[in-house]
Amino acid sequence: MFIILSALSIALFVSLKNIVYNPIDKNLLSKAEALDAMVDESIDSDFKFSFSDTKGNSFQFNVSKGRMWIYSSQYSKYFFQIRSFDGKTVKKSISLGDNDLPFKHHLKKIETIQWKGKILRILNYVDDKNKIVVQVAYNAKNEKDILDNFMLIAFVLIIFVMFASAVGGFIVSKKALSPIDRISERIRKITEENLSGEIELENAPDELKVLIESFNDMLKRLDKSFKQKKRFISDVSHELKTPVSVIMMQSEIVLRKQRSADEYKKAFSVIYDTASMMSTLIERMLLMARLDYKRNKMKFEDVDICDIVENAINLLKHKAEEKGVDVLFEKGDVFYVKVDAVTMLEVFVNLLDNAIKYNNKNGYIKINVKSDEEWVVVEMSDNGVGISEEELEKIDEEFYRIDESRSKKTTGFGLGLSIVKKIIEIHEGKLVIKSKVDKGTTVSVFLKKSS
Ligand SMILES: Nc1ncnc2c1ncn2[C@@H]1O[C@H](COP(=O)(O)OP(=O)(O)O)[C@@H](O)[C@H]1O
Ligand SMILES: [Mg+2]
Repeated sequence: MFIILSALSIALFVSLKNIVYNPIDKNLLSKAEALDAMVDESIDSDFKFSFSDTKGNSFQFNVSKGRMWIYSSQYSKYFFQIRSFDGKTVKKSISLGDNDLPFKHHLKKIETIQWKGKILRILNYVDDKNKIVVQVAYNAKNEKDILDNFMLIAFVLIIFVMFASAVGGFIVSKKALSPIDRISERIRKITEENLSGEIELENAPDELKVLIESFNDMLKRLDKSFKQKKRFISDVSHELKTPVSVIMMQSEIVLRKQRSADEYKKAFSVIYDTASMMSTLIERMLLMARLDYKRNKMKFEDVDICDIVENAINLLKHKAEEKGVDVLFEKGDVFYVKVDAVTMLEVFVNLLDNAIKYNNKNGYIKINVKSDEEWVVVEMSDNGVGISEEELEKIDEEFYRIDESRSKKTTGFGLGLSIVKKIIEIHEGKLVIKSKVDKGTTVSVFLKKSS
């Protein structure tokens, strides 16, 4: 800003100087020419003067008095002095009094000089024919004052503008940045414990509102995921506590005194069952964890989803037969989707497992695949126990299971649907569960059709 203002002032000053001095210079030049002409022509005889040049030739000049009036007062602004080339004065104006105009050399030039407290614009007019220099000067004090005033005003203005903009900029930026201070203050205080608090949006400027909103969104997401992780850990500990205490109890009982071989066998079989349950739980948890951090290691390939469904059915055929549940699936058309086949199999094994587990004896499961423009949909309906509306919202949470009224044996760890949901999310698909208590459940998996 300083540079721009200064450059602007200098440019203005230069043009103002031209505007002020140009008429003066023209005036001086015409006066010099007139003087020279008078010298040359010697029009009137009432203003006579003579001079001899360097070679000793003598000249006589007559100058009309009528044309001399502007130089005749001692207060006049105009001065002239006619000199020979070596500087000797031939004639000078009355306005000069006893003074002489400064003379350095007989070169044609025009300049501004300080002289006896005056500002002179002075012209050396060289007449080569007569070997004289006509010096004409003008007291340009007023004009110099104008230029000086301009410089002063420009300087003061620049200083003022710089100062005002510095102060203004400081105030404005301070005000504009204060919400940022608030945000950083808040960010500094963020720890795992107080993630839930939001940064207030009030009187924040619009530009920052978007930032604050997305920041608050991020806080909410982090808060949710932290809480989830914490709950997950406490749930895991809880889930592991029961089997561990079962194992400890069984061991304690058999260790207390000598037992029969049968008793040992019974205890060990309980211990074995419990340990294998724990092993399954640990496997499931490992799978959950892997889904979180191994996303980029998955292999997404075009596969017929019906093949995967068929594989899942084959894996659980026994379980279904045991319970007398009919699995109805007819493989017809092919439906290609871009999925990681291993994890996708996990999805359908889990869903089918649920549909068998939570079915009635001799129930059925119908699987049906269809597609529209965008999605391939695998629909799995059972006529089992169903899920009530309020449970429906929670069943895909980790460790959530509806086991109060149902026998503990049938339910698993409540991780199946969370795993399913996670895998489908990774595939950018959708999971829709519809259910009516005692009527049955329909689970629909929406997967992006491969192009
Ligand atoms: N097809 C279904 N019919 C009835 N209830 C179901 C069905 N699928 C899931 N559920 C309910 O949802 C809960 C959560 O399922 P899931 O996460 O697979 O856990 P798990 O199978 O280990 O119990 C189950 O406990 C069950 O009550
Ligand atoms: Mg399950």
